[in-house]
Amino acid sequence: MAVLLTGGAGYIGSHTCVELLAAGYDAVIIDNFSNSSEKVLERIREISGRSVVCYNADVCDESALRRVFSENKIDCVVHFAGLKAVGDSVKHPLEYYQNNLCATMTLLKVMNEFDVERIVFSSSATVYGVPKSTPIREDADRWCTNPYGWTKYMSEQIISDTAKADGNMSAVLLRYFNPIGAHESGRIGEDPTGIPNNLLPYITQVAVGRREHLNVFGNDYNTHDGTGVRDYLHVVDLAKGHIRAIEYAQKNTGVIAVNLGTGNGFSVLDIVKAFERATGIRIPYKIAPRRPGDIDACYADASLALEKLGWKAELSIDDMCRSAWNWQKNNPNGYGE
Ligand code: NAD
Ligand code: WQD
Repeated sequence: MAVLLTGGAGYIGSHTCVELLAAGYDAVIIDNFSNSSEKVLERIREISGRSVVCYNADVCDESALRRVFSENKIDCVVHFAGLKAVGDSVKHPLEYYQNNLCATMTLLKVMNEFDVERIVFSSSATVYGVPKSTPIREDADRWCTNPYGWTKYMSEQIISDTAKADGNMSAVLLRYFNPIGAHESGRIGEDPTGIPNNLLPYITQVAVGRREHLNVFGNDYNTHDGTGVRDYLHVVDLAKGHIRAIEYAQKNTGVIAVNLGTGNGFSVLDIVKAFERATGIRIPYKIAPRRPGDIDACYADASLALEKLGWKAELSIDDMCRSAWNWQKNNPNGYGE
């Protein structure tokens, strides 16, 4: 029995693949490499000593998906595939709706044809929009502020309705907070194209000399030091959360939404200091205007993940910074030459 990872060559998918292989699962990947490199596959093999079947294909391509399901005995799908840049989704909304929703619907359709009943979905804390209070529980109001977020909101709905219509289905909607860091080997990690949108990749590119300084987007937020507060979690902890979710899906039917976060909030300046402490490298920064759409604080109530999945984050902010730096310094240009 194998687990199919859509978008398994990406940042979170590749780390999850490594953890799945280490836990004894077989893994199959389908990825169109629109935001990843085929080099990831060799690195996964190197770390785990095991190989992975990979299809270079689009999840929106029904016949390609049929081929994947007919050539492999798939027990469960972890659906990572999707476009994920918030700002880009505002500029190109149709591209995001087309890719992300089409992928979710085509996948569900073909899963149904092959009687595959279990799905773990990569959702996001972005579905909480501007939270009324923190920490955020799974039953908090949901409302999105950008097309990317709406694709997660709508995919959650599409998956939930499909699972409800089929009493045997099990769907775990994982709402990730802010994944950062990299595998301890330094062989796989986050490799954004162009100027990084997210904080940690920007910091590591400053550290490696690819950028001059960090722009801190706003210091007048309602937080302990005025900079935005988020719930950063180690991507390896996050990857392990998927294994717990697969186990849950094997034992339960129905739909559940679960936050994956640490439950702790750190500000931008906390992260800068933590990175400097963990690596000994100074990160020059300038205070810049607020980034449109950003919120004061966003962190999880992580208790449901512990109660239902038996999962909690274990690695520290120092571990996250150290591993992110280990990846960046060993791969200054990511997977590129
Ligand atoms: P990523 O871009 O590194 O990985 C996504 C992968 O999906 C890429 O390898 C890309 O090539 C592939 N892909 C995209 N569309 C595809 C399609 N139609 N067919 C086949 N492959 C396709 O992103 P990630 O950070 O690993 O995120 C994984 C998932 O988790 C995404 O759905 C993302 O929205 C979600 N998520 C990410 C974060 C984060 O901060 N990284 C937070 C919350 C949720
Ligand atoms: C974190 C903090 C910024 C960059 C985004 C998506 C969300 C989810 C995770 C997918 C904020 C500040 C950042 C920089 C900065 N992805 N910052 N200078 O915005 O919490 O979440 O990624 O689902 O949907 O919106 O993460 O890493 O972009 O920002 O000061 O150069 O760092 O203002 O306070 P965010 P982020």
